[in-house]
Amino acid sequence: MRVIAIDGPAGSGKSTVARRLAERLGTAYLDTGAMYRAVAFAALRRGMDPGDAGPVARMAPGLDIAVDGGQVKVDGVDATIEIRGPEVTRAVSEVAANPAVRTELVRRQRDWVAERGGAVVEGRDIGSVVFPDAELRAYLHARPEVRAGRRHQEVSDLEYEAVAADIARRDSFDSERQADPLHRAEGAVVVDTSDRSVEEIVDELLGHLGGP
Ligand code: DC
Repeated sequence: MRVIAIDGPAGSGKSTVARRLAERLGTAYLDTGAMYRAVAFAALRRGMDPGDAGPVARMAPGLDIAVDGGQVKVDGVDATIEIRGPEVTRAVSEVAANPAVRTELVRRQRDWVAERGGAVVEGRDIGSVVFPDAELRAYLHARPEVRAGRRHQEVSDLEYEAVAADIARRDSFDSERQADPLHRAEGAVVVDTSDRSVEEIVDELLGHLGGP
């Protein structure tokens, strides 16, 4: 089973690179951030405080989360658009810091990939925790102003300063949390994506792989 782990902070280009790499390899692609967003979405819908660890932890195992082909369904409801919205984006870091939620989602991520016989998987802890034996582990990063610029293009209704501040807030929260914080996994290929094209980066990553 071929597994490729792509980690990095928001705006590092990991979604674009991971999706393109999966296309080039003809394998499945899993965005694990979408799963954390799905749990945050479900918590908000139930009127829970996303930082209230106990209730959120008890809810997670019973949730039906379907992530496939860019679409995300939570308990049968299409949440593809809403999980990218500002409400979920504000709530998701606290949900992702919940160790019980992480245990549950890591298990589901491993099952998801096994059912498909391999995948390109992107997130924050994929090379360090979820698939430490992945054939390739890559850590993507970029200069802060480049990352803020990319996110700003995606969510054009927000001011650049607000986007930059939100990225800085999530960076420190994701890196400083107790449970599986964002860091470069040992042995990971580190790529600065600031001044490079997607194809160039994908070619470099493919160069690290052995045969099919
Ligand atoms: O990549 P993203 O912005 O969609 O991720 C949403 C949140 O989930 C972000 O705060 C980091 C967290 N996350 C995580 O802790 N572990 C992962 N494997 C993926 C995402």
